[in-house]
This record gives sequence, structure tokens and C-alpha cells, in this order.
Amino acid sequence: MSAFFSFFLFFFSLSTLSFTMALRIVPPFEPESIYQISNSLNKFYDTSKYGIFQLNNGLALTPQMGWNSWNFFACAINETVIKETADALISTGLADLGYIFVNIDDCWSTVSRNGKGALVPDPKDFPSGIKALADYIHEKGLKLGIYSDAGMFTCQVRPGSLYHENGDAQLFASWGVDYLKYDNCYNLGIEPKKRYPPMREALNATGRTIFYSLCEWGEDDPALWAGRVGNSWRTTQDINDSWASMTTIADLNDKWAAYAGPGGWNDPDMLEVGNGGMTFEEYRAHFSIWSLMKAPLLIGCDVRNMTAETLEILSNKEVIAVNQDPLGIQGRKVSAEGSDYCSQVWAGPLSGNRMVVALWNRCSEPVTIKAKWETIGLHSSASVLMRDLWKHEDLGNIDGFFEAIIASHDCGMYILTPLALSNAAI
Ligand SMILES: *[C@@H]1O[C@H](CO)[C@@H](O)[C@H](O)[C@H]1NC(C)=O
Ligand SMILES: *[C@@H]1O[C@H](CO)[C@@H](O)[C@H](O)[C@H]1NC(C)=O
Ligand SMILES: *[C@@H]1O[C@H](CO)[C@@H](O)[C@H](O)[C@H]1NC(C)=O
Ligand SMILES: *[C@@H]1O[C@H](CO)[C@@H](O)[C@H](O)[C@H]1NC(C)=O
Repeated sequence: MSAFFSFFLFFFSLSTLSFTMALRIVPPFEPESIYQISNSLNKFYDTSKYGIFQLNNGLALTPQMGWNSWNFFACAINETVIKETADALISTGLADLGYIFVNIDDCWSTVSRNGKGALVPDPKDFPSGIKALADYIHEKGLKLGIYSDAGMFTCQVRPGSLYHENGDAQLFASWGVDYLKYDNCYNLGIEPKKRYPPMREALNATGRTIFYSLCEWGEDDPALWAGRVGNSWRTTQDINDSWASMTTIADLNDKWAAYAGPGGWNDPDMLEVGNGGMTFEEYRAHFSIWSLMKAPLLIGCDVRNMTAETLEILSNKEVIAVNQDPLGIQGRKVSAEGSDYCSQVWAGPLSGNRMVVALWNRCSEPVTIKAKWETIGLHSSASVLMRDLWKHEDLGNIDGFFEAIIASHDCGMYILTPLALSNAAI
């Protein structure tokens, strides 16, 4: 079969799908712009669940981007550090690149509710209150996120929102909150499918558009149900700032790739880039793979004090564009070879008929990693234009396969634009 013909077949099968499933919400792109690379892509990048989950609150058409306080500060937060972080997102240029959510994690509230049963910002650390903070952040064109828990208490034993969903949601909306991360501690053993939807209803009833981020740690396979409940759902336990944690979580999150799409994303937890526990190469791999997996890009370091290397990673526009690609199909691991399967190829389709490919060396020595077109779902005779997203260089026309020497724990990342297709598309 000719490459042209198979491009067409794939295009045809995807567009048919959106017509035949009446209740399915069509993703926000024109059918004409869907990649048309090869019908074999269906086998490699199952999209059968794509677009079936939509909270339909108009948010998360691409994965959320911003910052969250937990990974660096844990409970050592206050309004000064949150404001300075907002200032730093602006002054470093990160906000302009899309990092707009400033998310406060656990420890913002007092240990008990007030006499009227309302949550209260800790008067020592947040003396001006959350509304004032939201105003400050909105004036800068950013958005404010807050945290609560689908249980009796938060993980740091502040009051949880279970059975207080309506009042708490109203309070958050009255403060101008734009995002809620909803955790899973002290949950009384009630299943997540029962505890998370009431907050969705409560948020919706406020009339304010609030991003709803579920954090039940992947315990009840949320990819299978959470798309109807929230805009993203954690697929794993918490990340920590180590190579072992980051690689384990990447593999766990990969399992659910078919369920991601505009409106709802798998969440393998926040970024550790810049926190010091991994090397530059490891952080670059972390950022590359999170971007390719359409993970939320929530910075977890102290953005007021980043090294040039940290900023270089977090501000790579070409890698961010992969994450924010409007097609919104989660890339995935397509091959793992060598000792301990550590020569890995991860790939996924992008809009404009392109593909992203990452060559990830998880071995302790440099290795040559090869991506054959058949392995990533391209026709073997396809000719592509290749661009290196970390070197910011065009590599020219490539046929059949691509290979590169990748340093230990590093990750090369590339965009492939099929040339045959450009001709066929005319
Ligand atoms: C606010 O938090 C930061 C980060 O933990 C800390 O360095 C600073 O001393 C705190 N400021 C106040 C006024 O508590
Ligand atoms: C509430 O839910 C409805 C139905 O899904 C949706 O159309 C609407 O945009 C939601 N409103 C808010 C504020 O999230
Ligand atoms: C970090 O995560 C890894 C992998 O899950 C685990 O083995 C390790 O114990 C964790 N480290 C800490 C400090 O929690
Ligand atoms: C800034 O970060 C460096 C490590 O990169 C650290 O040694 C230093 O203490 C930090 N400074 C502040 C003010 O936090």
C-alpha cells in the first residue's frame, strides 16, 4: 500500500469515528487538521477513548500549566512567597510561555473551621486573606489555585471538604479561586467515585469556572471514570525528587494514554525540575516525557531562585508546544530494548500531520537509540523533516529510521513532519 493511501485511510477512520458516536464531544480541532500519517497509527496510538470524557466546563483543552507550592515549600508557605512567586513567573517570562496557574497546596488554612463552619485562611501566614491574594494574582493576568481534600482532613490535618462541598465551593468562588486540587487523605474508606463528584456539582453550582484537579493517587483507576468528574486526575502516588520515582511514575502513567484528551488529562504529578535531586539530563528527560505524555506542567521548584539550567528546561518553547498541541493525544512508550529495556522510544501524533519522538536512555552508559519508522507508526518509506527540540536545529530530510547517541539518563526529543504528506495534501 502506498504511503499516500495509508495516510488517507487513517484520516478517514478517525473522522468516521467522530460522526458515528453521537454523544461523543468532538475535540476542538478541524478534521482537516488531524494528522494523516498512517492507518497503522491506530494500532500504535489507540485513540478509542479520546474525546469521550468531557467535564464540559470549557477548561483543560490543553494540559494545565503553572506552579504549585508543595514540591519545594511543603507547609512553609505564606502570602509573601505566593506573591513573590507570581512576580517571578512574570519576570522570568514563564507566565508568557503559558505557566499561569499559581496553586497553593496544603497548609493554607487553620486547623479548624470557624463558628459558622467555614474554612479560614491561617491568619499568621495569610493575614490579608485569599481574596486579596487572588486579586493580586489576577491583576498580573495569572490565575489562583487552592487545595482541599475529599475527606475529613487534608493530608496535613487541616479541615477537609467531605460533606462541606457546597459551602467550601461557594467560599472558593467568592474569593475568586480558579482551580481546585482535591486530595484523598482521611477519606473514611469511602470510594473515590462517591467522594469526588459532589465537589464537581458544588463547583459547577457556583457559576464560576473552576478547574477541577482530582488527586486520588490513581487508587481507583481514575482514567476509567474521572474524565466525567474532573479536568485532570492523578494516576499515581506522589512523585519525589529522584530518578527512581520519576521513571516509575512515567511508566505507570503511560498505561492510561488512551484515556487522555482535550478536557481531561492523566496527571503523573507535578514537576520536580529544579529541586536538586536529579541531574540536568534527568530533569530534561522528566520535562520531555511529561510534555510528550500531555501531563499537566506544574512547576514544583522555587521560581524566585532558579538556576539558568532550570530555566532553560522549563522555558523550552518547542517542548512546551508539544505538550500544548491542540490535537491533545497522549504520546506513549513504543519500544524498549537493550539491557533492562532501557533504550526507549516514546512517540505520539501531533497536529499538522506531525509526530513527536523522544529517545530516552534509561541506562547508566551512553547508548545509540534507533527509532525505525515502523516502530513509531510511520510507513517505512516515509520521508520526514526532522527537528531537534533541545538543540533547536533542523536535521533535514530523514528516511526509514533515525538514531542518535544519547547520554546516560538523557532524552533527545524531535518533531517529524512527513514530506510525502505535504505533497499528498495538496
Ligand atoms: C514566608 O515563607 C518563606 C518560604 O518558606 C519564608 O522564607 C519567609 O520567611 C516567610 N515569611 C514570613 C513573613 O513568614
Ligand atoms: C456546569 O455544567 C454544565 C453541564 O456540563 C456546563 O455546561 C457548564 O459550563 C458548567 N458550568 C460551570 C460554571 O462549570
Ligand atoms: C521516592 O520514590 C521512590 C520510587 O517510588 C521510592 O523508592 C523512594 O523510597 C522514594 N523516596 C522518598 C524519600 O520518599
Ligand atoms: C537559591 O538556590 C541555591 C541553590 O541553587 C541555594 O543554595 C540558595 O540558598 C538559594 N537561595 C535562596 C535565597 O533561597
